[in-house]
This record gives sequence, structure tokens and C-alpha cells, in this order.
Amino acid sequence: MTQKDPHKRLLAICGKGGSGKTVLAALLTKLFLQTSGIRLLVIDADPTMSLPGTLGVSVQKTVSDVRERIIREARTAGDREKHHLARSLDYMLLEALVETDRFSLLVMGRPDSLGCYCPVNELLREGIGTLAQHFDVTLIDGEAGVEQISRQVIRSVDTPIIVSDISVRGLQTAALIRKVIESHKIIKYRKMGLVLNRVRGSESALDEYVKQTGLELFGCIPEDETITRFDMQARPLLGIPETAAALNAVQSILARIDPRYEKGQSPISGTV
Ligand SMILES: Nc1ncnc2c1ncn2[C@@H]1O[C@H](COP(=O)(O)OP(=O)(O)O)[C@@H](O)[C@H]1O
Ligand SMILES: [Mg+2]
Repeated sequence: MTQKDPHKRLLAICGKGGSGKTVLAALLTKLFLQTSGIRLLVIDADPTMSLPGTLGVSVQKTVSDVRERIIREARTAGDREKHHLARSLDYMLLEALVETDRFSLLVMGRPDSLGCYCPVNELLREGIGTLAQHFDVTLIDGEAGVEQISRQVIRSVDTPIIVSDISVRGLQTAALIRKVIESHKIIKYRKMGLVLNRVRGSESALDEYVKQTGLELFGCIPEDETITRFDMQARPLLGIPETAAALNAVQSILARIDPRYEKGQSPISGTV
């Protein structure tokens, strides 16, 4: 996908549980939606499935539901029917796709309750990869830790974004994720970087921590009481005010990842 269209973006957010992946995914979604004409696919790849609520979208069916159906049917089907099932996978995937008037959302759900069934996972990966080609931007809210990276929801992620809070464990996880991505050559990325979340006080004091991860710093998101308030009131983060410090920080991070998203510019329509 990356090679086919250099303007398309496939961003995957990963990091320790609770580090702020879903918050970052929601704020990035809000910013992408401010870019007119953009076709946006958001994928919730975390089994906790908290992104739909954070975006204010309700979801009836997940990709796991689709997967289980295929596995069940494949176990009882003959060879010819199996072929047919593989071909109908794209339709089944579309069943799990939630289309709002502004973006599309795919929720992966809980993995493999019927056991590992690699051919199906492989088909799904291909199906999701094909689906993503119909969008200008695909944004994945990843699972905690490193597991998912090896499971590869999609193969060609061009921008892995590793989120960490300022705890030692968060940064160790970030460094580990970097190593996994680099050493296994699983993801053919263009640009990989670190986002530090819930930062209080001076950002320069964190330089030493960042160095230890070996990652480029995409930017820092401050601890923001607006997020706390929205969270407590179960309000979708797409409604967060433009003035929120966290949103402005994510705007700078996005511009760092892709300068075409510099604030005040509207370069995307027609060029993405
Ligand atoms: N910058 C921030 N300021 C305040 N609260 C935050 C911030 N980032 C995340 N949180 C809160 O931290 C918790 C975990 O964030 P979340 O995005 O769900 O983490 P993850 O998806 O990595 O598990 C949530 O309750 C969220 O509201
Ligand atoms: Mg999450």
C-alpha cells in the first residue's frame, strides 16, 4: 500500500496498557476530521474495545465475530464451500465496518476464542489491507504490549507511534516495542517515534528518558484535566474543545509526523 500511493498514511499506535493509546487515537481522529475530504478508517485493535465509546460510536459486530463465523462454517464445510467462504470474506468484513457520516470504524474484538486458525487470520489480514487501500488515512489503536505487532493486523504500517507515560515501565515497553519492530522487520515503516503522555512540568527534563528508548520524540502530551472530565462524564473525546492543551499538543505531533498537517493549512484535499 505504501508503495502504491505515497500520500496514503497508515498509522499504528502501540504502547503499554493505560499509556494513552486510545486518547491519542481519538484526538488524532478529531484532527483528521478537520481536514476536508479525507477518507478516514479507524481500527480498534485492542481487545478492550474502548475506542468506539471514546469516539461516541456504537458497534454491533466485530471482526472476531466474523472470524468465528467463518471458522464455524469452515469446520463443517466441504472443500468447495471453503473456497466460497474465503471469497465471501470481504463481504463479511464489510458487515463489521461501521460507517458514520464522517469516518469508518472497524473493531477487531477479542481474538481467537475458537483457537488459532491461521488461514483465517491470514485472509482477514489481506481483507483489512485491501479495505485500507480505499482510505486516505488508516489509524490503528493497538493492543497493549508487543504481542499484536507480531500478529500484524495489517502488514504495511508506515508510521508506528509508540506511546508511553513517564514511568520507567512505560519507557521500557516503548524500547522493547521498538526492538521488536526493528529486529523482526515485521513492519516496513517509514517513520517511527515516541509520544510521551501525561507529562507534567518541563519537557526538557525528559530528554534522558527519551534517549534510553532510542526513539525519535514525536512530541509530548500534557496531563489535561479536560480529558479527565470527559472521561468521568463518559463524553466522546471528539467533542473536546479546540483550546484543550492535549489537543493542541497532538496537533503539533501530527505536524511532526506529516508536515502536510501543519495547523492552519488545508493541504490534504485532493493531495492525500
Ligand atoms: N493526557 C492525559 N491527561 C489526562 N488523562 C489522560 C491523558 N491521557 C490519558 N488519560 C487517561 O488515562 C486513562 C488511560 O488512557 P487510555 O487512552 O485509555 O490508555 P490505553 O488506551 O493506552 O490503555 C484514561 O482514563 C484516560 O482518560
Ligand atoms: Mg485503549
